[in-house]
Amino acid sequence: MKPKVFIDRPLPAEVVAYIAGHCEYEQWDSARPIPRETLLEKVADADGLFTSSSAIDAELLSRAKRLKIVSSMSVGYNHFDLSAMKARGVLGTNTPHVLDETVADLAFALILGTARRVAELDRYVKQGKWRKEDNEVLFGTDVHHATLGIIGMGRIGEAIARRGKLGFGMEVVYYNRNRKPDTEKELGVQYLPLEQLLGTADFIVMMTPLTRETAGMIGRAQFALMKPSAIFINVSRGQTVDETALVDALREGRIRAAGLDVYALEPIPKDHPLLSLPNVLTLPHIGSATAKTRFDMAMLAARNLVAGVTGQTPPNIVAELK
Ligand code: DGY
Repeated sequence: MKPKVFIDRPLPAEVVAYIAGHCEYEQWDSARPIPRETLLEKVADADGLFTSSSAIDAELLSRAKRLKIVSSMSVGYNHFDLSAMKARGVLGTNTPHVLDETVADLAFALILGTARRVAELDRYVKQGKWRKEDNEVLFGTDVHHATLGIIGMGRIGEAIARRGKLGFGMEVVYYNRNRKPDTEKELGVQYLPLEQLLGTADFIVMMTPLTRETAGMIGRAQFALMKPSAIFINVSRGQTVDETALVDALREGRIRAAGLDVYALEPIPKDHPLLSLPNVLTLPHIGSATAKTRFDMAMLAARNLVAGVTGQTPPNIVAELK
């Protein structure tokens, strides 16, 4: 008998066909997120679960008595309750590597977009306005040869550093829990303690995973250390930042601008103060969202899932559950 899996999101037909070749499956095939209660019902007799952001916690695990693996189509896995999964012996996998360059591209889109005020000036032109000669009000700030500070020097951080260094001649400094001497040598980047990085960098990019240690890592005290000309970019997870402190820093001109792909609450509420600030560029958590990368992530997650329910070792078990 084939193992049974539940897929809690839409997927490309080719990926579903691959899963169907190895498993019996049921799927939530709607763009609307699956209601929690439906998910809890559907996992009751599943050997495997394919998700990208559903919370995998003690409640879900208690309803999913047969569950062997949760395969997430994401590199981040802050939606996994790791201790609950460990206690139940449920494997958890993610999709590293395949999205590194795509997310790094998006980080640079936010860097360039905020520095040169792309979205703001797009609205300006579409309102029928035009620049007057040397109208300083419309000036931006240089990206080339500026100092790029990366918080979280994993594979995506390295891809961002490479773009900054080779593409834009930037000075690149980084902060990471562990120093990376090989990366320093290979890319010519410099390690700085966090406080020093915050006071030095022209662009500060958050690229750290969300963990107990990184939650709320950037707050009032950290914004106070940044230069008034600094631009803050977040492509990691919204909860790494105190958003109220960010709003105050932007409103009071303590930093120049912010470029955000992620928020404490997603979707970000329509009346959130961040959405009314002209110096904030906002995207709907689309770091990895290109057709090719999303397909590669889906296929990798499917391979992890099938391996996990057929008694093989999935290639991408998250470090804490190995
Ligand atoms: C990830 O894979 O974790 C990205 O944030 C896209 O969801």
